[in-house]
Amino acid sequence: MKFVTSNEGKFREAKAIAENFSIQIEWIKMEYEEPQGFNLEEIATKSAEKLVDKIKGPFFIEDSGLFIESLNGFPGPYSSYVFKTIGNRGILKLMEGISNRRAYFKSVIAYFDGSRITLFDGVVEGRISYEIRGNKGFGFDPIFLYGDRTFAEMGEEKNNVSHRRRALEKLFSSVANVPISKGCDV
Ligand code: IMP
Repeated sequence: MKFVTSNEGKFREAKAIAENFSIQIEWIKMEYEEPQGFNLEEIATKSAEKLVDKIKGPFFIEDSGLFIESLNGFPGPYSSYVFKTIGNRGILKLMEGISNRRAYFKSVIAYFDGSRITLFDGVVEGRISYEIRGNKGFGFDPIFLYGDRTFAEMGEEKNNVSHRRRALEKLFSSVANVPISKGCDV
């Protein structure tokens, strides 16, 4: 199956996880228009629908975001824009004086199997740190605490627990079941 993303890091992470399920994935390196939506599910579904006529065969896309409890889920579906505009420093500024630091990352995968779109999600819970820490990750990793380390301090270890890993595992285990049952029918 194909993974449509312009983000090489996301592709490498997915490829490594797919191998555990003996699934080969092909990278379709491509930027696609992300429609606006109230939640990741809506955005992922609409994005996949727009790609159905352009990509041959089964494919998936992934959309993710950071949800901060005390900010009522902000930046959520607007994470990419918020990261580009106010960034990690801006989020820490918004959180000044706020003691509830609970937050989670969520990933939603939209998978098109050739006839219909199915969604798979993954969540990882953590807290927003009080300062920027670590240099190994991307995006909001330096302010997202998982236990007592930020994702940016965890490096590759992050991939064992990330929201994306959890969503990808759901997708691959569901797909890996398909050939087994089909094989029984033959
Ligand atoms: P998108 O799924 O590529 O649209 O990413 C949404 C935004 O959420 C990214 O630009 C990042 O700012 C943020 N984000 C998503 N996943 C992660 C992650 O694993 N670490 C840090 N930031 C993330």
